[in-house]
Amino acid sequence: MEQKIQELRAAAQAEISGAADLKELDGVRVKFLGKKGELTSLLRGMNQVSAEDRPKIGKVVNEARAEIEKLIADKNSALKAAALQNKLASEKIDVTLPGRKVHCGHLHPLTLTLNRIKEIFIQMGYSVEEGPEVETDYFNFEALNLPKDHPARDMQDSFYITEEILLRTQTSPVQARTMQKNTGNAPIRMIAPGRVYRRDDFDASHSPMFHQVEGLVVDRGVTFGDLIGTLDFFCKQMFGENTNIRLRPSFFPFTSVSTECDCSCPICHGRDSNCKVCHGAGWLEILGAGEVHPKVLEMSGYSPSVVSGFAFGMGVERIAMIKYGIDDLRLFFENDLRFLNQF
Ligand code: DAH
Repeated sequence: MEQKIQELRAAAQAEISGAADLKELDGVRVKFLGKKGELTSLLRGMNQVSAEDRPKIGKVVNEARAEIEKLIADKNSALKAAALQNKLASEKIDVTLPGRKVHCGHLHPLTLTLNRIKEIFIQMGYSVEEGPEVETDYFNFEALNLPKDHPARDMQDSFYITEEILLRTQTSPVQARTMQKNTGNAPIRMIAPGRVYRRDDFDASHSPMFHQVEGLVVDRGVTFGDLIGTLDFFCKQMFGENTNIRLRPSFFPFTSVSTECDCSCPICHGRDSNCKVCHGAGWLEILGAGEVHPKVLEMSGYSPSVVSGFAFGMGVERIAMIKYGIDDLRLFFENDLRFLNQF
């Protein structure tokens, strides 16, 4: 009996020290000390031990029990400590590691330019109107005093979808749409930004798709002087206080007195013959404008004897190229990050 107890003790010792985790250790405890455990069954066999041996054997059993209990308790604390160490090691955070850089996008230079143009006109009380990019021949041409056989239609090589529907070649149709929406009511003070399409090559200064901003003012007593003042204010706001404008006579079917407006070169102010923006000319064409043609007013429900107006149309790419000193329009559409990241 005594030998059996010693064997059991040794076996328990080995299994306790071999337990890899708390669960295994608990299994060992149940195996030896549990109700049906090996040591417990040994104790149950005590009645077969003779009365004189009983105290001695009892003592050995109790010692064995106490020792196994202590071994289990010790192992239990050791396993718990090891688990804590593991947890700490695996959850360790190195607060001295340099942070990861978050790459943040930003607005495209054309969007920046468009936003600025809008801002300038909104502060003058203009509304921002929209029109469809797929437009009718009527709004794109006819309502703007360009009948079907008008030679000026050739100035704008168009993408036709059907005989009567095309991709708009200019934002000017939004003039007619806005007037017709307002049914003879004045004043109108609006700009219309958006994409336009022409059958042009894709080169440093042309693109089959580009952006324009149209402007229209209709009211009683609007004069050419109001147009000049507006354009001058716009240029100074856009390119700087010391920018000047210059007007040249021109022709547009939808204006009766027509002009092309240049601004003084904001990059070199005409002082650099190698200037990559004005090439030494000192002036840059920025938009077409004029007094609204009486026929255009009439066709959209306004009486030229009561109201007058002015209109203008500018290319957003062109304005952006001047503003940022860019010499190739294709850069806006190639999405090269080396270019875009500069804004
Ligand atoms: N629509 C013209 C173009 O695309 C620009 C323009 C010129 C618009 C004169 C106007 C204007 O409103 O009055 O070339």
